[in-house]
Amino acid sequence: MRKFIVLFALLLGSLPLSAQDNQITPAPGLFEAEDGELDATQTLKLYMDEYVTDRETLLEAARATGLDIKLVRRPAKQGYINFISDGEYVSEEQYYLYIEEDGIEISAATPAGYFYALQTLRQIVENNPDGKLPACSMLDYPRFEYRGILIDVSRHFRSLDFLKRQIDMMARLKMNRLHLHLTDAAGWRMEIDSYPRLTSYAAWRTPATWKEWWYGDRQYVEEGSEGAYGGYYTKAELRELVAYAADRYITIIPEIEMPGHSDEVLAAYPELRCSHLPERQGELCIGKEATFEMMQAILDEVIKVFPSEYIHIGGDEASKDNWALCEDCQRRMREEGLESVEELQSYMIHRIEEYLNERGRQIIGWDEILQGGLAPNATVMSWRGEEGGIAAAEAEHYVIMSPHGYCYIDAPQDAPPTQPEAIGGYLPLEKVYSYDPAPETMSAKVAYHIKGVQANLWAEFIPTDEHYEMMLWPRAIAIAEVGWSKPQVKDFANFRCRALDIVERMQAEGYNPFDLKNEIGDRPESREPIDHLALGKTVTYNYPSFYYGPQYAAAGDVALVDGLRGTWTYADGRWQGFLGRGGVDVTIDMGEPTVVHSIKADFMQYCGPGVYMPCKVEIWGSLDGENFEPLTVIDHEVRYEDVPSFMNFGWEGETEVRYIRYKAHRSRFSGFLFVDEIVVR
Ligand code: ACM
Ligand code: ZN
Repeated sequence: MRKFIVLFALLLGSLPLSAQDNQITPAPGLFEAEDGELDATQTLKLYMDEYVTDRETLLEAARATGLDIKLVRRPAKQGYINFISDGEYVSEEQYYLYIEEDGIEISAATPAGYFYALQTLRQIVENNPDGKLPACSMLDYPRFEYRGILIDVSRHFRSLDFLKRQIDMMARLKMNRLHLHLTDAAGWRMEIDSYPRLTSYAAWRTPATWKEWWYGDRQYVEEGSEGAYGGYYTKAELRELVAYAADRYITIIPEIEMPGHSDEVLAAYPELRCSHLPERQGELCIGKEATFEMMQAILDEVIKVFPSEYIHIGGDEASKDNWALCEDCQRRMREEGLESVEELQSYMIHRIEEYLNERGRQIIGWDEILQGGLAPNATVMSWRGEEGGIAAAEAEHYVIMSPHGYCYIDAPQDAPPTQPEAIGGYLPLEKVYSYDPAPETMSAKVAYHIKGVQANLWAEFIPTDEHYEMMLWPRAIAIAEVGWSKPQVKDFANFRCRALDIVERMQAEGYNPFDLKNEIGDRPESREPIDHLALGKTVTYNYPSFYYGPQYAAAGDVALVDGLRGTWTYADGRWQGFLGRGGVDVTIDMGEPTVVHSIKADFMQYCGPGVYMPCKVEIWGSLDGENFEPLTVIDHEVRYEDVPSFMNFGWEGETEVRYIRYKAHRSRFSGFLFVDEIVVR
């Protein structure tokens, strides 16, 4: 009966969908506080009706709530937890949860539904350490069926224990897919019997960190040789991991990269390089039949270990240069009537898809698999933005959204100068949380094909476990809520409070999440528009041939005097980027003679992507626009640094000017100069 009341309320929209009055993460669909409370300090008698399967797993999950539980054969009248199966559901992962004075009733249609109810119950128990659980009624199910995280074990190998710890946390947040990036140039990580050199050789290198290796000789070493760093999972270990995840309703999706990101494969089996024998090759030769024999043999072994319907075949960032030079690739193109190297890549993905489909599996690939024609049944993981995903959905393919602007949690999550070296950018918790994979503006057809969302944590700059956990959490909590909760129940302020609690709990449990309570947040200067004397004045760019680049034009000719200061990232449309040898050279016309006391501008440095400080800044003033008096010359020694920095270059004093010329010279490092505003006071 209660169930119908709840359903009616949901249909009529008469009850507020509210995340405000509970502390559950991800925010549930319908939560109603009721009168009374359950004394959960007593032993609770757990009864599962005859339709409940996975009983052992669910019993263990029930015990993990922290409640004292005894399994019984008949429903008790008092002090009960009753699992009452329900054949009607919107989502297979749906559950009802009622906490009453006499006990707890849970209704679900699948073990996953019961499991998620127990995760909710566990949070309620954690939030009520006195053991008095407030009565409530809940109906909850996920917005998206795929809620995932990518863990990159190629760039730096991670132990099975580490992976299990992350799986534990994912399960508590009702996430259900772990995408394991098992293969890449930096190391192959899965034991393959038919190609043993993948792990006896291509899984090992001598510099321990990706960075030293990548910027060094990029060689591999024999397993067991001195200083060999790396590792791989045996099949037994992977089976153990798969089972561990399955007990938490998480499917592990293995990724076997092809045709790109395969340097390690070709280092182990150089006979499979293209026919002109490039010294080093990152893309498999699609002309050689042996390539297919190898990939198919590998996939045969992969599907024996991983029951996942989805097998991720990579497909991203393949350079096609070698294929254009290779006799075998060219012959393949002629024989198959392929007009371009893009179609050659597509030929490979089609063949691999067919191979896996025949074995009852489906492929997922990065959005580059759209190039040259999408394989008929492929699911697309959209990472370069959302465009690839939308195009695939328009063509009625399923899509997992993972656009880098919201889901690439290898970017720093707080003020980059305070964070360890990272790949670049700035992706705070709030931005991750703000992501909507299927907003109302999307057509119903496209939205229908969006099956879920995934955060990707690439590990190039993340050598240690502690660092990896710090990058993963709490941003993965935000992805869990993006994937589970409807937009109507999402609220960042409320979420942040819950995330703070989860972070504290994780810290107490020995995890190393980012310490959210000490978050600095976005660049303080960027938070409010500023006023200053040059605001809206005319700026002349003195050397048109050394103009700001089109990619980083920001607001164009007004950008340096528009009052909008840049954020921590240069791709924000506020920082203006200068690539030419002349650096920055602009003249501001103040319109009339003006007494000024300071002229200042900030620059940023991110050496990884080639953004440097100027080596010299010169500032002049003039009343007539002809004769310029130097106000200051500042020399700066530019050094390569791992951590980003921000620096102000300016003049202070007192003078009367109409024209101000500001010139910043590029250093011996080429690359960009970025400046957001020339502030005149
Ligand atoms: C990717 O980030 N190259 C999928
Ligand atoms: Zn070739």
